[in-house]
Amino acid sequence: MRLGTIARFGVLLAALAAVAVLFVAFDGNTTPYTTISPRTESAEGIQDLYTLLFWAALVVFVLVQAAIVYTVLRFRRRSETEPRPAQIHGNKTLEIAWTVIPAAILLAILIPTIVTMYEINDAVGQDQNLIVEVHGKQWWWEIHYPGIGVVTANEVHIPQDQPVQFNLKSDNVIHSFWVPQLAGKRDVIPGHITRIAFTAPYPGVYYGECAEFCGRSHAWMRFRVIVEPREQFEAWVASWKQGPTQGAAQSVNTGDITRAPREFGVCLGCHRINGVRFLEGSDREIQPLPTEADATPLFGPNLSLFGCRATIGAGILTNTPDNLELWIANAPAVKPGSWMPAYGESEENPNGLTEEQIERLVVYLESLQPEGGCYVSPDVGEPDLGIDE
Ligand code: CUA
Repeated sequence: MRLGTIARFGVLLAALAAVAVLFVAFDGNTTPYTTISPRTESAEGIQDLYTLLFWAALVVFVLVQAAIVYTVLRFRRRSETEPRPAQIHGNKTLEIAWTVIPAAILLAILIPTIVTMYEINDAVGQDQNLIVEVHGKQWWWEIHYPGIGVVTANEVHIPQDQPVQFNLKSDNVIHSFWVPQLAGKRDVIPGHITRIAFTAPYPGVYYGECAEFCGRSHAWMRFRVIVEPREQFEAWVASWKQGPTQGAAQSVNTGDITRAPREFGVCLGCHRINGVRFLEGSDREIQPLPTEADATPLFGPNLSLFGCRATIGAGILTNTPDNLELWIANAPAVKPGSWMPAYGESEENPNGLTEEQIERLVVYLESLQPEGGCYVSPDVGEPDLGIDE
């Protein structure tokens, strides 16, 4: 009996210690996916609910544990000869009490939850909202800025202090768009546009991920939201629209960066680079992506300015030439279930791209940068990628 009591106290103490450790461990700066370092009003509303629930649950937990410990100690059988206590069936007062008290607690949680939900949803549909269209893919995110003509992948730039509305779409399975520090989760549902809106007051890089199981690489459906002052956002848009320019970086063969190496033809089934043409000898030409094409999602990411992307494969690799080689040669080996097939020459794929061809593609893709190099927001800087190398 004594042992059981000690065990109960032990469990209680261990649980309290775990809570204390968690509080210390969750520091928003070192754990960017945490939900408890909100950076918008909407995320703060959710955090307030979380805090309310946490303390309410803690009080209930401690009271219940204390009642159990007390009961065990106070009413334990002290000897073999001790008679059984009176057996009771039903107690109206107690039953009403343990129905009414939880109902009151649930109501105290429900009311602020509904108020917060309405407050958060009020941000959707406002005239001043900047619209960003987000397409959930398997397993990456395509980002469109309707009217601005920018299409990118897995990196969302938004202006600081600007209400932004994300219109979420999917043509495959259900995903969930989630940037813990900026907003709550919102499901991305095929055949149905869902919306979420918020205003981010602090410049910085925020980490997002898919929060709804959507297949083998669900865990590798990461993205980043870059919040920057308006003039820096506009500079980013301008740099994006400028596109890859001649002489901006290295180029293949001709010195003309807008001309893709012939190997790139195989990429065109799914990808696109704005305003890019093939090397002479090929009659296929890629025209600049018109603004109206914004609404048409591609099968693979738009690779314009690929050289400026921070990651490959929605966060699974940092964007380096070596990693890109690995990726092109055998994407499914890097990212389970990847729809991009293995393009490298191998026993199973004897007609695949040779190492030399892949290297040409890598040099070409990494050189897709605007004049003067990639745009880096002075107020945000080079982001830490949140990737374990
Ligand atoms: Cu998309 Cu999980």
